[in-house]
Amino acid sequence: MYRSHTCGELRSENIGLEVKLAGWIQSIRKFGSVTFIDLRDRYGITQLVVEEDLEKKPLGREFVLQIIGKVRERSNKNPNISTGEIEIFVSEITVLNKSVTPPFTIQDDTDGGDDLRMKYRYLDLRRNAIKKNIELRYAVNMATRKYLHQNNFLDIETPFLIKSTPEGARDFIVPSRMNAGQFYALPQSPQTFKQLLMVSGYDRYYQIVKCFRDEDLRADRQPEFTQIDCEMSFVEQEDILNMFEGLVKYIFKEVKNIDYSENILKITWDDAMWNYGNDKPDTRFDMKLVNLKFPLHAHPNRKDISHLINKPDFKVFDEAETVIGIVIPGGAEYSRKQTDELTDWVKRPQIGMKGLAFIKVNKDGSIKSSFDKFYNETELKNIADAALASPGDIILIVAGKEELTRKAASELRLLMAEKLNLRNPESFKLLWVVDFPLFEYDADNNRWVARHHPFTAPKPEQIDLMINNNPAIKDPENYLQHPYANIKANAYDLVLNGNEIGGGSIRIYRKELQQKMFDALGMDEKEQHEKFGFLLGAFEYGAPPHGGLAFGFDRLCAIIGGSESIRDFIAFPKNNNGRDVMLDAPAFVDIKQLEELNISIDIQE
Ligand code: AMO
Repeated sequence: MYRSHTCGELRSENIGLEVKLAGWIQSIRKFGSVTFIDLRDRYGITQLVVEEDLEKKPLGREFVLQIIGKVRERSNKNPNISTGEIEIFVSEITVLNKSVTPPFTIQDDTDGGDDLRMKYRYLDLRRNAIKKNIELRYAVNMATRKYLHQNNFLDIETPFLIKSTPEGARDFIVPSRMNAGQFYALPQSPQTFKQLLMVSGYDRYYQIVKCFRDEDLRADRQPEFTQIDCEMSFVEQEDILNMFEGLVKYIFKEVKNIDYSENILKITWDDAMWNYGNDKPDTRFDMKLVNLKFPLHAHPNRKDISHLINKPDFKVFDEAETVIGIVIPGGAEYSRKQTDELTDWVKRPQIGMKGLAFIKVNKDGSIKSSFDKFYNETELKNIADAALASPGDIILIVAGKEELTRKAASELRLLMAEKLNLRNPESFKLLWVVDFPLFEYDADNNRWVARHHPFTAPKPEQIDLMINNNPAIKDPENYLQHPYANIKANAYDLVLNGNEIGGGSIRIYRKELQQKMFDALGMDEKEQHEKFGFLLGAFEYGAPPHGGLAFGFDRLCAIIGGSESIRDFIAFPKNNNGRDVMLDAPAFVDIKQLEELNISIDIQE
């Protein structure tokens, strides 16, 4: 037996017991003839007391020890660790393995930078901070499986070597040795397979599954990531939302002991864009956008209040397509330096605004504005009233082209909430965003692409718009006026604290409509047959109505763990260039391997 207990297990009840422990040396402190060692394993840290005559060989950090000793009360108790009441008086010590000095300290506040930690990820994973994340990931995994199992879902594996599944990113491709010149694609998701499983009658499917997407990476994106992928037959949108609302609440309860008892709020995509400028709004705080001016065709049915700001003299607003304000509580106190800093912030290329205007409603009710040369006090007050600003508030205002300005306002809203400490990672707010547009305009190619994926069903009452209208976009400048721009889908996203943690849709299940959808995306019959013949074929054999969704498992874990970076929740992640710096992958391969694959490489400088 290597050990009788773990390093996180012994308590004062065990005083007097002879024990055998095994673990790594976290730290060594010498006091005269006695050495104190913190011995660490996955479960915790136990203090060892070693007398001089026992310590024959030199010991160092991260050596692997096995010790025998007696549990005794510690004189200098440490309330911060679970074993802090006891220590082990060591009678026998065996060095199971040595360690060279680690490149960074293996503790919570390590001195290792990101690159170093990734290079030695196996050491980084020893750190408690990362270990907690990996444990949390497992807990989310287990809770998910339990809930879905209880609800009759079957975990069914689907292949990795497949033909492309379009989810909007580039595919990773794998050459086939046995089929010279041909390639498999790695799945961007198991989308078409889970739909085929519905055709096969497995009416509740799930899989916790790797997906592969060759896209630009960010804190919340990895080239290979994991989804909780689900599909159900004979359901409407509401059934799916209820089932997976249940799943997320179950996970919160099991993993964090949080009772998320309120119903998850549901808003339409239109409302999300209107109120927050964003389809994944953080609703832990309010601060809705004030739409002072906007293109009417993009937001039909919204109240136009542009008369409040119409002034030919003030070009900033007059020439803008969209003008949006945000009321910041307490902002009337901001100094000139603070408003200048915010102006610089919105002028950064990532945000792209030309400037920032503001109206301050002072505590005494008087008004001060960056554009008071052009508006009298009553006019400014009318704007402030329309924005529902209170004394002490500032209204920050951005103006420009519709999409850019809405996005800038959304970013500014998040920045201000951050400054006001309204984005507490320990508080959780879920939101369903529903009725997404079916199509998205691809400006580079002047065509419509599927916003979610091409298997998503349009709102039944809008199918005619799709069938009767030509997809050609004659006026790219005003693409929002094309009938396709207004077709909505039975598609939904689940948003947690401003992050898209899942998305899905009700699917098309009739062959004719699926063909119409492919037509709308500009695919001719030949291409449809080549790419999706299998699916169109399957739809001829009694495909049931079905729908589903997929959660970004890494994202869900990261946010539940209080972080927006998914890397710390993945045991072996890639860096932002898609590299595994520990393996040093991707790498060149042997010329022989390439020959076997009938591939020759000609790298262009
Ligand atoms: P979608 O493409 O929206 O839907 O993906 C589902 C969820 O996966 C997460 N996600 C990612 N996480 C980390 N790194 C990435 N590169 C990445 N890309 C996506 C997001 C997202 O919400 N087949 C459909 C689902 C369906 O329709 O059922 C799909 O894959 O959290």
